Parts: sequence; C-alpha cells; structure tokens
Amino acid sequence: MNQSLLELFQNDPEAFLSGEEISRKLNCSRTAVWKQIQNLRKLGYEFEAVPRKGYRLVYQPAKLDPLKLADSLQTEMIGSSFRIYDQVDSTQNVAHELVRQGCPEGTVVLAEEQTSGRGRMGKKWLSPKGKGIWMSIVLKPHIPLKQTSQLTLLTAVALCRTLRQELGVAVGIKWPNDLLVDGLKVSGILLESSGEDDRLNYVVAGIGISVNMEADDFPEELDGKATSLRIVCGRPLDRIQIIRRFLEKFEELYLLYLQQGFSPIRTLWEALTISLNRPLRVKTYNGWVEGTAESIDDNGALTVKTRDGETMKLYSGDIQL
Ligand code: BTN
Repeated sequence: MNQSLLELFQNDPEAFLSGEEISRKLNCSRTAVWKQIQNLRKLGYEFEAVPRKGYRLVYQPAKLDPLKLADSLQTEMIGSSFRIYDQVDSTQNVAHELVRQGCPEGTVVLAEEQTSGRGRMGKKWLSPKGKGIWMSIVLKPHIPLKQTSQLTLLTAVALCRTLRQELGVAVGIKWPNDLLVDGLKVSGILLESSGEDDRLNYVVAGIGISVNMEADDFPEELDGKATSLRIVCGRPLDRIQIIRRFLEKFEELYLLYLQQGFSPIRTLWEALTISLNRPLRVKTYNGWVEGTAESIDDNGALTVKTRDGETMKLYSGDIQL
C-alpha cells in the first residue's frame, strides 16, 4: 500500500489528492489512507495537507543509490567500491567481513537502517531508517598501531569541515570525535582496528550522522544531548550530497596525512575543537578527571592539567563541558 500510495502522488507531482479520491483508487478506507500518510511521514516523506483539497507530496527522501553516489564523486580511492544495504545490524560488522573477503581500501559501506548500531564505550547508536548517514570506510594505511587514533581525529576534521562548508552550520569537535552544534551532538565517529606486532592491518572508520531526524525520532534520554542537521538547518537535507562532499574531503586529508604525517591534521583539529583551554570533566574507564585540556599529542591523546597541577594524558573518555 505504501508503494501504491506513493505512485499516485508521484504520477501527478503537483496535484492535491483528497483522502476520498485516494481511498477510492486504492480501494481502502480513509482511515487507512491517513495511517499510511503518517507512516510515510515517519520515513521522511513530507505532505502538505490543505482542508477540502487534500494532500500533496512536497518532499521525498532520496534512497542511497550507488549510481547517484558515484555520479560526480571526485575521489580516486575512497568510494572505489560502494556496498549499500537496506538494513544491517551494523555497517561496522559488514565492513569487517568485507575485509576478511579481501575488499580494497576505500570500500564504503552504507545502510538505510542499522538494528544494532554501536557507539564508543559500549553505547548504542540510534540509526533509524532513511534518516541519517550510517557509514563505514575501510582503510589500510601503513602506520604503526599506536597512531591509529590519529585517523579518528582526521575523520572528525573531514566531517566538521564538510558540514561547515556545505551547510554553513557552526559545528565544533568535542574530543575525541563528537561533532556538536550548540552543545548538541549531531555526529559520532567510531574507529575499529586490527593489527599485530605494532603494525596496523586495517581500520574501519564508522561515521554516524543524524541528518534528517526530527525531534520525535530521539528517545527521551537524548533530550538536551542530541540533535540533527535537519533540526539545525530547518529543512530536510540531501544525504547523497553530504556523503559525496565528505568522501572528497576525507580523501584529500587522508592523502595529506599519508604524505605529511599528523602535523597538518593536528593544526586543523585544533582550529575546529571546542575542547581545549577550558575547564572540563572527563569520564574515563578509570574514573573522572577534572582540569583544563591544553593540547593533543601525536597519538591523539588529550593532555589535561588537573587542578592539583598534575599533567595527565587521556587516550579515551567522555568529556562533560
Ligand atoms: C559514537 O559517537 O559513540 C560513535 C558512533 C558511531 C556510529 C556509526 S554509524 C555507522 C557505524 N556503524 C556502527 O555500528 N557504528 C558506526
């Protein structure tokens, strides 16, 4: 029914269709029509409803189509292969499996929906259907294992610069890898790596961006903590365009990193972060650390001067500003 209802609107894109007309054409009740319109709205479709005229389809979300993504994508290696799924448990799991099967560096896995999206520090990552960008990128750089977290910061810089340039949104990076707008999280990054004898075999860089989620897509526990680009920009956004621009920026910075090392990335990160030179509390696996973050080091660790003057290096944690 969803599909036939959509086809009615798509066949006559400018027209208003009344509930009565639709129910006659689809041979169902008007209540069923209303319910289906509500369902489609939840999936990101937008209808204008005018009394005595009916409904008009004003926006339909683009599906993540590999041809559309590859069209005009200006990258050499990142996105050399796309794997796009309707539903997966986690794009990270799919990417790890593809590596085991020998996929090339730059393979990008995307899903419309994740049923077990995962975040850092054992948290779940909300990934509703069609509403965001749930993506994993396979990387195989020849770097020592201990430098892997540099790639987390590189990913955050690429995404932050993309969203600023493409949407004009004032995004900042919260160490190590959250992207915030006005203190609310719009994106998170999860790097998972495999290596042996200090040598990195491969990395899966997982990127979650809450693009077109609306306020009621977020559970209560994320009130005052998370938002979406759509809420911030006040309009639905084209995921495909964001993915293309991000992959281009990512490749540019990744190649720079492979040629010149971490130093230029660190400079960019420091210019975009909201975490340095201010008092903060960090929840680590070993308890809370309070102080002022002064810098990040070559391994992406946060250097914090605690209240009693001690300097500590933090390799992972959750900052509370
Ligand atoms: C975090 O902020 O805790 C990191 C969130 C990372 C979420 C992304 S969505 C795509 C990829 N697949 C996952 O299961 N997680 C990452």
